[in-house]
Amino acid sequence: MNTLVVYYSLDGNTKAAAERIAKELGCKTMGIEPEKPITNKGFMKILVGGKQSAFNEKPAIKPLGADLAEYDMIVLGTPVWAGKAAAPVWTFANSCDACEKVIALFTLSGSGENEKCLKQLKNVFPGIRISASLKDKKADKNGENEEMLAAFIAQLRAAAQ
Ligand SMILES: Cc1cc2nc3c(=O)[nH]c(=O)nc-3n(C[C@H](O)[C@H](O)[C@H](O)COP(=O)(O)O)c2cc1C
Repeated sequence: MNTLVVYYSLDGNTKAAAERIAKELGCKTMGIEPEKPITNKGFMKILVGGKQSAFNEKPAIKPLGADLAEYDMIVLGTPVWAGKAAAPVWTFANSCDACEKVIALFTLSGSGENEKCLKQLKNVFPGIRISASLKDKKADKNGENEEMLAAFIAQLRAAAQ
């Protein structure tokens, strides 16, 4: 199966997980890029990103540098913002013409909670059946991500067979 990992990342945590997953699966990654980059500086990022997510805003994103028609399975990665998917991922979700191919979701957050985000994205991608709720580098003091990532990757390998 031809798999693609699509992700958005402001501070690098989701990008690092996407790259790790893709390396293990031997597949490509593709980043979602907003037309107008969101600042990653201190309080402003919380203010701007938090407002976008809280109000379900869909900031314009650049065309994805991949043709989704070429892939059988899409793994989606997003930071959790205000309990939801990061706003650029919400834009992607609402403009994606390959919804049925998205079968897995991984999230990065400070709290390690993603129920609201998973529920929100399942409305658009009802095929999501594998998920992992990872913590960002600062929050993952006990190395819990490692175990979760291994289980997530094992499920993806099984789904790809
Ligand atoms: C705008 C904004 C809102 C956030 N909201 C939440 C939240 O509701 N819950 C949470 O656990 N973490 C929240 N975080 C923390 C991020 O989810 C976490 O740091 C994540 O690892 C960032 O991913 P990235 O490094 O790929 O950008 C928020 C961060 C930002 C910038």
